[in-house]
Amino acid sequence: MGEALHGTETVDFHGTYQAGIATAPPQAYATLVALDLHTQTDRDGLRRMMQLLTDDAARLTQGVAALADSEPELALVPSRLTVTFGFGPELVRRAATVDAPSWLRPLPAFGIDRLQDAWSDGDLLIQVAADDRMTVAHTVRMLLKDTRSFARLRWTQPGFRRARGSQASGTTMRNLFGQVDGTVNPAPGTADFDELVWIRDGWLAGGTGVVVRRIAMNLDKWDELDRSGREQSVGRYLSNGAPLTGAQEHDEPDFEATTAIGFPVIPEFSHVRRARSEDTRQRIFRRAYNYDDAPVGEQISSSGLLFVSYQADVDAQFVPLQQRLDELDLLNEWTTPIGSAVFAIPPGCAEGGFIGETLLT
Ligand code: HEM
Repeated sequence: MGEALHGTETVDFHGTYQAGIATAPPQAYATLVALDLHTQTDRDGLRRMMQLLTDDAARLTQGVAALADSEPELALVPSRLTVTFGFGPELVRRAATVDAPSWLRPLPAFGIDRLQDAWSDGDLLIQVAADDRMTVAHTVRMLLKDTRSFARLRWTQPGFRRARGSQASGTTMRNLFGQVDGTVNPAPGTADFDELVWIRDGWLAGGTGVVVRRIAMNLDKWDELDRSGREQSVGRYLSNGAPLTGAQEHDEPDFEATTAIGFPVIPEFSHVRRARSEDTRQRIFRRAYNYDDAPVGEQISSSGLLFVSYQADVDAQFVPLQQRLDELDLLNEWTTPIGSAVFAIPPGCAEGGFIGETLLT
C-alpha cells in the first residue's frame, strides 16, 4: 500500500467566517502570536498591514509562496494550514470608527490567576495552525515580516496535539495530564455551534470572540495523585474519558447518581460538574493545544494547556464559567493561569477583500 500523504491538503481561506475556528478536526500544531502596534500605526497603517497579511495568508494556506517568500519551497506543503486574525482593544480604538464590543478588554481578575505580562494581552493576534510543524514555523515567519513596519512581537505560544495519522482523525485530544480533553464541545457545522460562536450583527457579524489562557499544569505535583484521585478531580475516567457514571466517552454524565454511602459519584468539586452551568447560553467552543517548555530549576517539566475558546460574547459565556471554576474546581490544585488575552475575531473575507475590511474601510 502506498504511503498516505496529506501535505498538499488545503483549507479554504476565503469565506463568511475565518478559517481555523470551525476547521475540524483541529490541526496537530498551532502557534499563536500577539503583536503590539507601533505608536505611529494609524488607521491607514492598519489597513495596509491587514491587506498585506491577508494577501500572504491567502497564498500560504493554498500552498503558494508568500509575495516576498525567502524560502518558497517551504510553502508547498500547506498541510491544512489556516491563519486566523484577532483584534485587541487598542487596535479597534486606533481604527476609530466603531464601538468595540463591551467584552473586548482584559478578563476580570480571578483568584486563581498568576498572570504574567509576557503571556498576556496584545493588539493583534495571529493563530497559525497546520498538521505540519515546519509549515507553521515558515508561515509565522512570513507573516511577521509583513508586520515589521507596523507592530512588534509581544508573545509567541506554540502548541501541539498528537501528530496527524497517529490516531483516527477526530479522536478527542488528550492533554499532558493524560485526560481526554474536549469531549463536551459544540460541534462545528451545527446550528448549536453557530449560535454559540458566531456574532450576528455589526462589523463583527460572522466573527467571534476568542479567549487565550496559558494554564500551567503542575505535572510534578500531579504525579503524587493516584489514578482514582485524578479521575475524581475531573469526574471522568482516564482510560476513555467516560463520565464516572458511564462507560463510553460520550455517555451523558448522571450528576444525581450517589454512591452506596450517599456521596455523589461525580464529586461536587469535580471540574466537569463545575464547568457545566444550568444556563445553556454559558457554553463555549474549546480548541486547546498542549505546550511543553524547557523545565526550570528542579522541575522535571514545565507544561500546560494553551487554552483557546471561541464564543460570541465573552462576558455572557466565558466569564461566568471561569468564575464558577475560580470559586471551586479541584483541578485548580494542579493548574495555574499564567497568561490571558481576549481578542475580537473579525469575519472572513471574499477573494479580493481583506480581513478587517468591515472595520477599516
Ligand atoms: C489546564 C486547565 C484545564 C484542564 C486540564 C481541563 C480539563 C478538562 C477535562 C479533562 C474535561 C472533561 C472532558 C471534556 O468534556 O472536555 C474538561 C471539560 C470542560 N472544561 Fe476544562 N480544563 C481546563 C481548563 C478549563 C477552563 C479554563 C475552562 C473554562 C473557563 C474549562 C471549561 C470546560 C468545559 C466547559 C468543559 C465541559 C463541561 C461539561 O461536561 O459540560 N476548562 N476540562
